[in-house]
Amino acid sequence: MLSGKTILLGVTGGIAAYKSAMLASALVKEGAAVHVLMTGHATEFIAPLTFETLTANRVSVDTFDRNFQWNVQHVSLAKRADLFCVAPATANVLAKMAMGLADDMLTTTLLAASCPKLVAPAMNTGMYNNPVTQRNFAMLKELGVSFVDAETGHLACGDDGKGRMAEPEEILAAIRRLLTPKDMKGLRVLVTAGPTEESLDPVRFLTNHSTGKMGYAMAENALARGAGVTLVTGPVSIPVPAGAEVVRVRSALEMREAVLSRAAKADLAVMAAAVADYRPEAVSADKIKKSDGEMTLPLVRNPDILKELGQTKRPGQLLCGFSMETRDLVENSAKKLTAKHCDLIAANNLRTEGAGFGTETNVMTLLTREGAEELPLLPKGEVAARIFDRLLAMR
Ligand code: C5P
Repeated sequence: MLSGKTILLGVTGGIAAYKSAMLASALVKEGAAVHVLMTGHATEFIAPLTFETLTANRVSVDTFDRNFQWNVQHVSLAKRADLFCVAPATANVLAKMAMGLADDMLTTTLLAASCPKLVAPAMNTGMYNNPVTQRNFAMLKELGVSFVDAETGHLACGDDGKGRMAEPEEILAAIRRLLTPKDMKGLRVLVTAGPTEESLDPVRFLTNHSTGKMGYAMAENALARGAGVTLVTGPVSIPVPAGAEVVRVRSALEMREAVLSRAAKADLAVMAAAVADYRPEAVSADKIKKSDGEMTLPLVRNPDILKELGQTKRPGQLLCGFSMETRDLVENSAKKLTAKHCDLIAANNLRTEGAGFGTETNVMTLLTREGAEELPLLPKGEVAARIFDRLLAMR
């Protein structure tokens, strides 16, 4: 998703510097050209060789590097960078950035570069909460620098509090967002994701293997493209995308209520949740005790949320459903497209390698009234982008 982009990664002297190696690796995997600049202190925590091996580019540290040619190339790098990310960003480097100080390779290049800048602060809680640091944050934000805020937790210095660097995946998502054209600005997108849980008693429930990854990727992509996103999510264990309005639900009935009360405002509705088709007829107030004989569970039909949306769809609103089949993929999905009044059905076969539950990739067939388009094996983020491309083309 980042191919053709040049990203400068500034690494400063904090223990979180080791996490930046994972970030560098992820950026390279997404196709970006990554050039790392380190402060002298950062090299005490992690060796430049680590980044050089991961990025296949030389790391710059010292302003007075005697390789003159490299210095020239380095200035040109600042000019053609699409994004400058500093992770981890210590209180010290953030203070220098706020003041416009340039006393080493990293800060000199930061001052020279005019591309968007993103920082991931990492420091001790005392330093983080210090009004001076907070003032520097505010100054940088006012100057247009984007932040991936620090997290609260256990810090390497032994303290508990705010100051942990955000996880590399979160920084990566912020980078993707900054580099994505905002072609969905002004659009409101409603997304459902994850499984539902249908209670039997206070202890047990019926559910499915959905992890929410595909729906979350849809929400993430819409956010990156500038849309306003409401994410109605069943219980999952993955982090919610920053910037979305998140509504947490458990059962299909709760999901229905959350979706229908918000549907009218949506320009695009993307129903990626794996909603249980049936729920137990009654929920026992007490734990159901075992007995010696067999047991049969009476189930009743859950409402079909997507179908209801199709029936109440307003002009101009686009509706996208998902389908997972184990056989007759195109035939079954084409039926859904018509029966549920959808504009697009993204269909995948559970039996296809790389598709389905919990995977990072998917193999999708996109069905519209015009016909079927088979996508190759792609990361879920890329699949999400293709689905929105198709929906936007219908507007
Ligand atoms: O008909 P089927 O359940 O296979 O269709 C799948 C699509 O319908 C998905 O988009 C899913 O989110 C949606 N759905 C729904 N409410 C249900 C069942 C499925 O919105 N009760």
